[in-house]
Amino acid sequence: MADSNEMDNHSESGSSNDSSSSRQSNLHSLSSCISEPETPSTERSLLFEGSFNISWHPDTEFIVVVGGLGYIGSHTCLELIKSGFNIVIIDNLSNAYRNVFDHLGELAEKYWETQGRPVPLMRFYEADYGDADAIREILKEFIKPPTLEGGGSNDGVLRSRVKGVIHFGGFKSVSQSIQEPLKYYTNNVAGMIRFCEALQDFNIKTLIFSSSATVYGSVANIGVPLMEEYCTHKAETFMDHNGQFKTVQGGCSGLTNPYGRTKWMCEAILSDLAVADPEWTIVALRYFNPVGCDESGILGEDPRGVPTNLMPVIMRVMTGVSPALLVFGTDYPTADGTAVRDFIHVTDLAHGHIAALAAAADGRIPKGFRTYNLGSGTGASVLDIVRVVERLSDTKIPMKIVDRRDGDVGTCVANSMRARLELDWKTEKSLETCCRDILNFFACRKEGLVPVGV
Ligand code: WQD
Repeated sequence: MADSNEMDNHSESGSSNDSSSSRQSNLHSLSSCISEPETPSTERSLLFEGSFNISWHPDTEFIVVVGGLGYIGSHTCLELIKSGFNIVIIDNLSNAYRNVFDHLGELAEKYWETQGRPVPLMRFYEADYGDADAIREILKEFIKPPTLEGGGSNDGVLRSRVKGVIHFGGFKSVSQSIQEPLKYYTNNVAGMIRFCEALQDFNIKTLIFSSSATVYGSVANIGVPLMEEYCTHKAETFMDHNGQFKTVQGGCSGLTNPYGRTKWMCEAILSDLAVADPEWTIVALRYFNPVGCDESGILGEDPRGVPTNLMPVIMRVMTGVSPALLVFGTDYPTADGTAVRDFIHVTDLAHGHIAALAAAADGRIPKGFRTYNLGSGTGASVLDIVRVVERLSDTKIPMKIVDRRDGDVGTCVANSMRARLELDWKTEKSLETCCRDILNFFACRKEGLVPVGV
């Protein structure tokens, strides 16, 4: 259950006429309260002027972000806030720190100050997304009352002020999933089922699901950029990378680890849900390798546990926490023998979520279930990454060559043409920018500008 006294675990920030409490953060004192809007604003603000043209009640509609204080979640929350969305963050803090909410408030204030407009509404609830009772308690607060446009429920169907949900709540370490599979199936699969049951009780049926390129399994080794059709949940006919028409059956082959299996299972479950109830719009975004951080240096990848992903491990070597980078295998069929991945800046990834929300809201994505690859389309090897970081930091990174890591594939690069055509999204930031932004985050932390997580 969400802690009984939600006010203690219910942090708020955003524009308000009075500040009932304030929290001191390192850079700003932040008035942290929000007065529930008395009456809805009459004007309808238009976000995403131009191609998206999504209409939005700034005072009464929210996007729920599960896992919103984590690495990708917090960066997506920041971009949502900058785009004018009101957000509700639900996070159990199993792999994130509470003060990330303060950082988001600081960055939001700074940004909207430059726009001369009030900060969107932000709320944080400490809760486990798989605890359906806690989720229902939270969602009750967002039932659209009869006084609001479209509120009430004359047909017995609840109306919610939650316009959409982004789910980042899964555990994500390949190696940890191999060691603790039940922990991954319980949280990533069973938790998501309970969460979706709670959503449908409140008639909330727009969901952006954080999926992963690991669903391609060993198919990734075909050595060409991966198309979404290489892992489907129903029969599909498409033109493959050789320009040949092919028909694939739903299913998967060669999943290499429990983490990837949980992501595939969740996609399959969500695909079936969308078939059973056509009111659902479910978008599964298949991330390739998220790296980098916001250019402010305030938000970064700051997991509670020991990271296993390449970039945070390199940072641990850079900061002296680890003595050397273990390079898992130099015998892959790649240019330099080390594994190749499609590294994508986390801010580009965040924009992909907003593009998906907007496309779902204005009907450019049909109701139902659909997957999109979010990657740059360009591969880089482990050694490529090391060289870029060494050059930018003018520091040598000690390495030790060891055997391949269980569950790894040699190459995994995206074909993101579907996202480009249907979501009007593509990556904008370079690999160098990814590395530069990460080094900036650690420099800010070293200078004490960014407090360690609490
Ligand atoms: C990248 C490459 C390693 C660490 C993971 C998960 C999941 C997904 C993307 C979202 C591999 C090598 C790594 C190290 C190394 N996220 N490596 N030494 O495994 O491609 O995918 O991230 O869905 O989290 O699927 O990412 O960063 O762990 O590894 O040599 O200490 O770097 O062998 O080839 P991966 P990664």
